[in-house]
Amino acid sequence: MFNLILFGPPGSGKGTQSEKLIKKYHLNHLSTGDLLRSEIYNKTPLGLEAKSLMDKGHLVPDEVVIGMISSALEANPKSQGFLFDGFPRTSAQAEALDKLLQLKKTNVAIMLALEVSEDELVRRLLKRGETSGRHDDINDTVIRERILEYHRKTSPVAEHYKKTGKVVKVAGIGSVDEIFASLCKEIDKKIAGQNHN
Ligand code: AP5
Repeated sequence: MFNLILFGPPGSGKGTQSEKLIKKYHLNHLSTGDLLRSEIYNKTPLGLEAKSLMDKGHLVPDEVVIGMISSALEANPKSQGFLFDGFPRTSAQAEALDKLLQLKKTNVAIMLALEVSEDELVRRLLKRGETSGRHDDINDTVIRERILEYHRKTSPVAEHYKKTGKVVKVAGIGSVDEIFASLCKEIDKKIAGQNHN
């Protein structure tokens, strides 16, 4: 089983690259943002609670997203591996993920961290907001709040995985295909190293 975390601030290209990576490496895509938006779309109680937080650019409570990830792992017992996109986003989520994977006798192989300047993030998200219908993309203040939440609560998650040497930084600027090639290079290196051991 090969599990990877695609990490980076809002707008860094996690969703875009995930779509390509899951096809190439036959992974299950677990995006907590997508799971939450599906709850909102279906007007579930969880979705209604999450919507007000997401519209302000704030994180939803840890127990909500950990529960969603736990169910998704259970629902895919035969998976060859998972790509986590937008999760874990707090240290508590990272610890919970480690435990959930331990129960499955596996772990996180690598965290690929996309690096993009703040001006570029805001530019991309405002542009997407013109057509996406995502409430958290339409205004500059909410976008900046999402980026602040990232610095406050999510950046420390990289420190958690740095301790075990799992973090690899990848430039997130350039064409989608160029960035994809850089990500694949790092994944292939990791897989080759695992097979060698
Ligand atoms: P989530 O859905 O995870 O959103 P996000 O992290 O803010 O990320 P985005 O989807 O906006 O960006 P991305 O990095 O995936 O980039 P993308 O490929 O889309 O979370 C939304 C909210 O849900 C959170 O704010 C929070 O409230 C809640 N939430 C989710 N997970 C949570 C958790 N674990 N804990 C607590 N709360 C949680 O690209 C962005 C745009 O850029 C697109 O238009 C794309 O076409 C464009 N683009 C991509 N690559 C390039 C490129 N190379 N050049 C130019 N443009 C590009």
